[in-house]
Amino acid sequence: MTEATHQRAFDLVLFGATGFTGRLVAEYLAERCREGLSLRWAMAGRDRAKLQAVQSSINTDVPILVGDAMDEGSMRLLAEQTRLVLTTVGPYAKYGSALVAACAAQGTDYCDLTGEVHWMRAMIDAHHETARRTGARIVHTCGYDSIPSDLGTLALFDHVERTHGKKLERITHYAGESRGGISGGTIASMLALMEISSRDRSLRKLLANPYALNPEPLPEGPDGPDPMGVRYDDGLGMWTGPFVMAAVNSRVVRRSNALLDFRYGKQFRYTELSSTGRGTTGLARASALTAGLGSFMVLLQNTRARSLLAKRVLPKPGEGPSRATIEQGFFTSRFVGHGDGITAKLTIRGKRDPGYGATARMISESALCLLQDDLPKQGGVLTPASAMGMALVPRLEKAGIRFEYE
Ligand SMILES: NC(=O)c1ccc[n+]([C@@H]2O[C@H](COP(=O)([O-])OP(=O)(O)OC[C@H]3O[C@@H](n4cnc5c(N)ncnc54)[C@H](OP(=O)(O)O)[C@@H]3O)[C@@H](O)[C@H]2O)c1
Repeated sequence: MTEATHQRAFDLVLFGATGFTGRLVAEYLAERCREGLSLRWAMAGRDRAKLQAVQSSINTDVPILVGDAMDEGSMRLLAEQTRLVLTTVGPYAKYGSALVAACAAQGTDYCDLTGEVHWMRAMIDAHHETARRTGARIVHTCGYDSIPSDLGTLALFDHVERTHGKKLERITHYAGESRGGISGGTIASMLALMEISSRDRSLRKLLANPYALNPEPLPEGPDGPDPMGVRYDDGLGMWTGPFVMAAVNSRVVRRSNALLDFRYGKQFRYTELSSTGRGTTGLARASALTAGLGSFMVLLQNTRARSLLAKRVLPKPGEGPSRATIEQGFFTSRFVGHGDGITAKLTIRGKRDPGYGATARMISESALCLLQDDLPKQGGVLTPASAMGMALVPRLEKAGIRFEYE
């Protein structure tokens, strides 16, 4: 971001305010402003009447901007008017490319909630150099994917360096107890990814590469495929199974390491799993999770099954978990690090449904951190840890996401 961007009409434009997650973000930003936050912001989307309905439902009079994600001209206009765009318009591979191009070209900061690795790869290849030149910070994965993974890894590494003067050589992240739901927009993104990956072999190869988001040429690092089976973890004292988002989060953590000049080291290893508890209950849960995830993935590869699920069973775009599910939800992420003769632990505990209530806070605080905190001046297609670093942690803590070190 340059001095010139400070002259723009808005600090932040929320694009997608009419969607399920976008409304939650709008509500959170409006609440922060009522509490005294100084922010010149606007809500944007493709449908003025729907935006006006959101405006009155959250009791705010912020300006409204209208633009279609598929129209390059309107995305350029959006990017020119603001210092930062926060977008919840997804699936991003379908709707997001023109906006990223416009932000990179205009030096406009940007954050989103994508978990679509192939699209992030395309954005890195197309816009990283332009964004470096203009100073635009393009930050994908600012929600439950991949803030806990990326910031948890940085926070534990940083904590051990500061308190023990030592460097961790490997970190395992165990996604633990959680409660929440899923929205139609997330389902649409998953189905779209399954659709194209079932047709494209080179895409499947990219998605399987543990370093798919690293700067080119992709390295041969020490990490292998994401764990898929049931295992008992002695260090944690719990059963573990695969974690559905590991294929995204682990790639983001590895890109962070590379963008942070290999702060964790070139031989650093990162693994992500689900922890399912102790004893026979933990074993049964890990087995069910492993079998269930495997069957679901096989099912999603079938075109007919995908279309039936989308039409009859799964939530539609715009739909999502109830208010009670969002408010009563929570998540727990445990990190265990080893290296230099020590073992260190961090637990992140978040209030509210991880994918929506907590995610709305994570992306909003990421945007505010980019706008208001003293961060390194660097443009590019970045990650949460490389763009915002430890400055984001106190913001997350204030928003109900606690970091507890052992
Ligand atoms: N990483 C995470 O943790 C996380 C968590 C939650 C969501 N997400 C992702 O966030 C995205 C949104 O999810 P959601 O459930 O909020 O989706 P949603 O309810 O379907 O909302 C999609 C939004 O995009 C807008 N939109 C669609 N096409 C558009 C176009 N051509 N031009 C302008 N706006 C357009 C919709 O506008 P209309 O209202 O006018 O249709 C709506 O505001 C998905 O990609 C999802 O995977 C990620």
